[in-house]
Amino acid sequence: MDRIVAQLGLADPVLLHDRRGTTFYRAGDAALKITAEWMAGREGEVMRLLDTEFYRDHGWDGERSWLLLRRIDGTRLWDALDGAHRGDDRPGTRRRILGMAAAAAYALAELHAAGWAHGDLQPDHILYEGDRTHVIDLACAQGPADVPFYVHPGGIAHTLAPEIADAALTPGEHVTTTLPADVWSLGASLWWSWTRTPPIAYTDPDAGRPGQLADIAAIRRTPASARPWPFPEFEELLMACLASDPADRPTAKELIASVMETAERRH
Ligand SMILES: Nc1ncnc2c1ncn2[C@@H]1O[C@H](COP(=O)(O)OP(=O)(O)OP(=O)(O)O)[C@@H](O)[C@H]1O
Ligand SMILES: [Mg+2]
Repeated sequence: MDRIVAQLGLADPVLLHDRRGTTFYRAGDAALKITAEWMAGREGEVMRLLDTEFYRDHGWDGERSWLLLRRIDGTRLWDALDGAHRGDDRPGTRRRILGMAAAAAYALAELHAAGWAHGDLQPDHILYEGDRTHVIDLACAQGPADVPFYVHPGGIAHTLAPEIADAALTPGEHVTTTLPADVWSLGASLWWSWTRTPPIAYTDPDAGRPGQLADIAAIRRTPASARPWPFPEFEELLMACLASDPADRPTAKELIASVMETAERRH
């Protein structure tokens, strides 16, 4: 058994995954993230500052760090939109999609109100748990407090805002993330989960990250026809988030209002 698991006295730990330097355990109502370096510790510092509801504790173990969380019994955005992707366009589904968009915007607006940008928003980082919605994985977050610095290379490509992709094209440079970039990433996460196609059409699918970043920076948009079925009001909301100019994007708070307005107009 990992000695961090033993030291924390976690009973019956179950290994959930071990990839890219991150090990995840579930034990009772707890979730434990251990990273090979100090990213879990950095995330813990951010979560403690934010007083995040599901944060419990964090610490260091030599080169490694760990983060203890309440286990969220939830559904990821990606999975929540699976039925819609496969053709479920019923009125109830449309209502549910708008509700999920509003809830995600609300969770992001809360983070932004505290002055923090997420920096790596993606479909696996939005979890729906009953009537609560969580934005998770704050390891890359940037904000107004002094947490350990690391050179942020930019988040996952498929949801990266063009101006961030442009900055990320220079290898080794620290990328400063922003609130409007998170709004693009939220729109991109909703679009990608619904259509299973990123909002940017890559010139060469095998070009790897540098090629993807160049296409994102050039804003080579995926045609609207990639969607599984037309949902004009939802598409309009997504396109607002995916505005080329960050200044034209709604804030997360404005997005909540426009999603709610759209939902009400449908009735
Ligand atoms: N508190 C939690 N409760 C339940 N599941 C969680 C919790 N935190 C994270 N997870 C699950 O574990 C996955 C990985 O978590 P996270 O994104 O924080 O780690 P990561 O280091 O980015 O891992 P990876 O890059 O391998 O996804 C999440 O997508 C989510 O499904
Ligand atoms: Mg993650």
